[in-house]
Amino acid sequence: MSAPKKLFIKTYGCQMNVYDSERMAEALGGEGYVETKSPDDADMILLNTCHIREKAAEKVYSELGRFKGLKAEKPDLKIGVAGCVAQAEGQEIMRRQPLVDLVVGPQSYHRLPEMEAKAREGEKVLDTDFPEEDKFEKLKNRPKAKRGPTAFLTVQEGCDKFCAFCVVPYTRGAEVSRPADRILREAQDLVERGVREITLLGQNVNAYHGAGANGDMTLAQLIWELDKVDGLERIRFTTSHPNDMQDDLIEAHGTCAKLMPYLHLPVQAGSDKILKRMNRAHTAESYLRLIERIRAARPDILISGDFIVGFPEETEADFQATLDLVEEVKYGTAYSFKYSTRPGTPAAERPQVDPAEADDRLQRLQALLTKQQREVQDSMVGRDVTVLFEKAGRFPGQMVGKSDYLHAVHVADCDRAIGDLARVRILSSGANSLAGALID
Ligand code: SAH
Ligand code: SF4
Ligand code: F3S
Repeated sequence: MSAPKKLFIKTYGCQMNVYDSERMAEALGGEGYVETKSPDDADMILLNTCHIREKAAEKVYSELGRFKGLKAEKPDLKIGVAGCVAQAEGQEIMRRQPLVDLVVGPQSYHRLPEMEAKAREGEKVLDTDFPEEDKFEKLKNRPKAKRGPTAFLTVQEGCDKFCAFCVVPYTRGAEVSRPADRILREAQDLVERGVREITLLGQNVNAYHGAGANGDMTLAQLIWELDKVDGLERIRFTTSHPNDMQDDLIEAHGTCAKLMPYLHLPVQAGSDKILKRMNRAHTAESYLRLIERIRAARPDILISGDFIVGFPEETEADFQATLDLVEEVKYGTAYSFKYSTRPGTPAAERPQVDPAEADDRLQRLQALLTKQQREVQDSMVGRDVTVLFEKAGRFPGQMVGKSDYLHAVHVADCDRAIGDLARVRILSSGANSLAGALID
């Protein structure tokens, strides 16, 4: 028998890309590939790319350039580009970087086995279709390998919102929800392989409306079905849009014990003028009232968000409105970005903000968000939380896991195993994590 071929995958971008990379590894696993951690001994290199900001997209070309020497040494090495840059710039990649053999979009990667075979024959292959067939179903014969205690599970993909700055509706396509029975089957399979916590993924995960036994289901209904899966201890979901935050989902945060008290709910900006120009279809006020209702259902919930500063025509007063909104919400964690012009999106045509001004705003926003994050983290000291252990720590006897609120927690003298849940008293708060001790 010939030695297995080696596959090196590098993943950029969001959690859905992490999920997709696992699926691509499985698809090529059927063709005799095993994963390797280094590009140097790979027979195939796949870059699973992100197009969300200009820097992310440019990184792909510099990374590809680095494989030139490797390809010269190993002419049989195949190099592929997957993900959102592949979708957006497939032809351009082939033109700009001749060492690329294969380009595959996020909706066609179940066809990788055939594409790989063609590439082996020396063909250049590009597939960025949005095919009719269900890629998830095509991929369902996966090996039953044991895996870690946490997993992502895509339930919804694509977006119909068309925020004026965003490429996702173009790279991922229209919003599609997977049928509930297939998701439940996949969840059951994950649990059998050792998974204790599942994060449901979707670009607009709370717009989920997949087919169930009695018609379309909401995300909350799907969560209640998952709640019945024995051995599954924790459920999370990301990313949500404020306008799809339905009553039953808010209620579930108060009543479903497996649903964790953490919600990523991007607002992007605090000025109604800017929100309107972003095509967000909500106001600062409606967002704040929504947060109030969520906190009424689950008072200790940790709120996370995304922000863009320097969106076209954002004035200092508009930016102040963002700071005001942040002051009012008090975020437990947040991601903030300087607006990046994306060709083909409506905002790209609007008058741009001076980059130095945008940098300055980003710094001020991040200072406030970091302060809030620290305060929320520090407020955990003295409290008891549940921790799911994910790995051994750096010191002997130490274990590291995540609390319900998604804080990293280090526990010394810990006799628990990876995948165990335990009650932990938080003793101190560090730069990016908490330290605690097991409660007997
Ligand atoms: N579907 C998710 C995530 C979209 S991408 C959602 O709707 O929230 C993740 C984040 O990247 C966005 O929330 C936004 O804050 C940021 N982002 C998207 N396009 C951007 C752009 N052109 N420039 C800067 N940040 C951007
Ligand atoms: Fe992009 Fe807006 Fe859709 Fe989120 S909701 S993926 S930011 S278009
Ligand atoms: Fe990036 Fe595509 Fe995700 S653009 S953020 S990898 S959906």
